[in-house]
Amino acid sequence: MPKLHLITYGCQMNEYDSERAAGLLTQLDRYELTDSPAEADLILLNTCAIREKAEEKVFSKLGELRALKREKPSLLIGVMGCMAQLRGGAIQQRAPIVDLVFGSPAIARVGELVERARREGRPVLDVGEAPLVKVTSRPGRPAPKAFVTVMEGCDKHCTFCVVPVTRGRERSHAPAAILAEIRELARAGVREVTLLGQTVNAYGRDLTPPTDLAALLERVNELEGIRRIRFITSNPYNLTSRLVRALRDVPKVCEALHLPLQSGSNRILAAMNRGYTRERYLELVAELRETVPGVALTTDLIVGFPGETEEDFAQTADMVERVGFDGVFAFRYSRRPGTPAAAMPTQLSEDVKAHRNTRILEVAERVGAAQNRALEGRELEVMVDGASRRDPGQLSGRTRCNRVVNFDGGGRIDVGDFVRVRVTQAMPHSLRGTLVEEAAHVC
Ligand code: SAH
Ligand code: F3S
Repeated sequence: MPKLHLITYGCQMNEYDSERAAGLLTQLDRYELTDSPAEADLILLNTCAIREKAEEKVFSKLGELRALKREKPSLLIGVMGCMAQLRGGAIQQRAPIVDLVFGSPAIARVGELVERARREGRPVLDVGEAPLVKVTSRPGRPAPKAFVTVMEGCDKHCTFCVVPVTRGRERSHAPAAILAEIRELARAGVREVTLLGQTVNAYGRDLTPPTDLAALLERVNELEGIRRIRFITSNPYNLTSRLVRALRDVPKVCEALHLPLQSGSNRILAAMNRGYTRERYLELVAELRETVPGVALTTDLIVGFPGETEEDFAQTADMVERVGFDGVFAFRYSRRPGTPAAAMPTQLSEDVKAHRNTRILEVAERVGAAQNRALEGRELEVMVDGASRRDPGQLSGRTRCNRVVNFDGGGRIDVGDFVRVRVTQAMPHSLRGTLVEEAAHVC
């Protein structure tokens, strides 16, 4: 059997797409997955283009793979995903070892594309648009958690962002197809699903008849076997009171929301074309905190956007304090080809970006640690992910509010189990706890 080695960069949507590609190749084309690139007959890199660093990582990996290809000329190397969509044939020009470049719309045809590259012995390029299809195949892999894409693309035009170019227009999958996929996952042992979309809370408005994320959450909630539902990423612009109430009222929906703020300065938010102000964001946070007690809020921030002054940056730091985020992902602004911000004349130096990045992370860490400390003494439901990374003698899992908890499982608990844990100590990025009782096995 030919062997496939798959390398995934970037976001959860890429992880999902990689699973689909691997699922199709293993089921229809009889590939077998391997962890070893040296053993592979086909290596696929599923790429990310959100920041320049992500692209550089891919080219350096392709550089490493050159030696393998020299030793084994029959090895096929493919680049898929956002970088494929953004750069197209330029990838093969810079890295001639690449045999195949294709975007996510072509995943449904991956087997055929690989076959063509093998047969024709010359580079194959497929980065065109294609109708939306829901491919649901996955390589047989029992796991208690799964991602499910509910919509593709993005219709927003944030001036820094390349996603509308790489992922195309916003298109929602039909509820029936999503529910069928999740039902199947539940049957295979999945207990937690995360619904994915670039602006997941805009789900359904393009469908006939239109629907929304709150309605979809209610329907997923009815599926037997599923115990937790999460969704990412929500955009503040589209956050409705109806969705906030769903976070409170739909039992399986976890009390955690990732709500990218990007900047705390109204001037920068306007230049980013985000469609909300810091005041509006604070209003949303107040509504969330009032409606959904204990809700955990996480966010994305960009530092060093063109023209960002010290005062603008201070406003972002101030928002981190005011909101009391549980977690912050901070990114240095990266100039992306074809985006309006890339052409702005007021680009900042890498030094300024790096310095602001360090400073914002310090604030975020302090605020997040305080949020964690507030949980000491509380008893929480934890879904077990496996052995703890730091201490293999301990188990690690996540609370409904998505915090990592490490605890001693006494050797009787398995991946995917739900247990109750009392938090004994808050660490900066995780919690320590002790087992309170063993919940009933769910399988
Ligand atoms: N759809 C999501 C964002 C997807 S990209 C949303 O609405 O927010 C994930 C994160 O990458 C963004 O939230 C942003 O913080 C960051 N990002 C996007 N483009 C970037 C750029 N050019 N430079 C630095 N960070 C960027
Ligand atoms: Fe990018 Fe803004 Fe869409 S960050 S993915 S253009 S909502």
